Amino acid sequence: MQLKESTDFNKAPSRKDTNAEKYALREKLFGSEEVLPMWVADMDIKTPSFVMDAIKDRTKHSILGYEEIPESFFNAQIAWIKERHGYELKREWMFYSPSVVASINLCIKAFTDSGDSVIVQSPVYFPFYTSVTNNDRHLIKNPLIENDGYYIMDFEAFESAIDEKTKLFLLCSPHNPVGRVWHEDELQRLGEICIKHDIIILADEIHSDLIFKGSKHLPMSGISKALEARTITCYGPGKTFNMAGLSVSTISIPNEVLRKKFGKVYKATHFAEGTVFAHVGFEAAYTKGEVWVEELIEHIQGNIDYLDLCLKEYMPSITMKKPEGTYLVWLDCRGLGLSYQGLKDFFFKESKLGLSTGISFGKEGEGFMRINLATPRSTVEEAVSRLHEAYEARHF
Ligand SMILES: Cc1ncc(COP(=O)(O)O)c(C=O)c1O
Repeated sequence: MQLKESTDFNKAPSRKDTNAEKYALREKLFGSEEVLPMWVADMDIKTPSFVMDAIKDRTKHSILGYEEIPESFFNAQIAWIKERHGYELKREWMFYSPSVVASINLCIKAFTDSGDSVIVQSPVYFPFYTSVTNNDRHLIKNPLIENDGYYIMDFEAFESAIDEKTKLFLLCSPHNPVGRVWHEDELQRLGEICIKHDIIILADEIHSDLIFKGSKHLPMSGISKALEARTITCYGPGKTFNMAGLSVSTISIPNEVLRKKFGKVYKATHFAEGTVFAHVGFEAAYTKGEVWVEELIEHIQGNIDYLDLCLKEYMPSITMKKPEGTYLVWLDCRGLGLSYQGLKDFFFKESKLGLSTGISFGKEGEGFMRINLATPRSTVEEAVSRLHEAYEARHF
């Protein structure tokens, strides 16, 4: 059922007195409680009422004992992905996981041995690096190619970086932080290289529901049967419905041999069944969320357009390419001519904005900052005003 939501994305409660990471870590990360925090990838937008109502309903039963994950949980996501992305998952491929990052770590354990290599395309969401290094695997970085703020894959370098120890490739699709939604020919070509060198693909598709007009998310597993047989995909409602605090995601492994291999590590980890609130919240999101997500995308697009206009008009030394997907915008600040420390001082101290430094996504991110625009418009306006004041004061 699709409900007409009457969410006003411009109204959100203050998170200051909650344990919200985005706020709680301001002093530690930015040296001040005064910064406007627009870093970690969750939204300053209310979790939809149909998710909250499902949780409230569950609290009406006064026992919170062990629960099986109902089949309707998985079926809700299968239907959602079929409807939105035209790809059909099978129930027997799927596992519950409390977090996509946990799933990435488990896959590294399941599909590589100590001394093996894992390849990633940098700059990228930093747990892609730490999942590899924390498991004592060798990290291979294949930098994306940047052309005037737009990023493409470097296929030749990808292939030449592979050696006989390279067993796994971590694909970020859509890509955090550069906002690319990969095209079919890109995924196809990358996939062919992985097939040729017998590399397993782990596709992190957590951002795949937030895609802007003109782009289409293509599940890596849906590109061809040959790729389906070597692709493992992580999905989750955490980003789309702002419910990361419920710790719920899934992982799909179509290939039976890989599934069995993963199953052993999965069992040895014992995630159990997740939480009773996650079960109902997840199912409500995927059965009732379609209209809400479309409205959300429109709202975020408005924020992106607004920031883009303001930068062009008033702060031309900071540029951005509008993202094709995700609510994250990758700001090119190289035109400011500042060092890493200089950039931090300018954004954190002078502009009083708590953004993610580009460097935290790898050294290819030097000179960039990432801003999260999943907020009420007033927050973006406040951010622009703070930034503009600091920019003018510096006479850039
Ligand atoms: C690409 C990507 N994968 C995974 C995550 C985190 O997912 P989870 O909270 O399920 O571990 C994020 C959060 O920012 C992300 O950007």
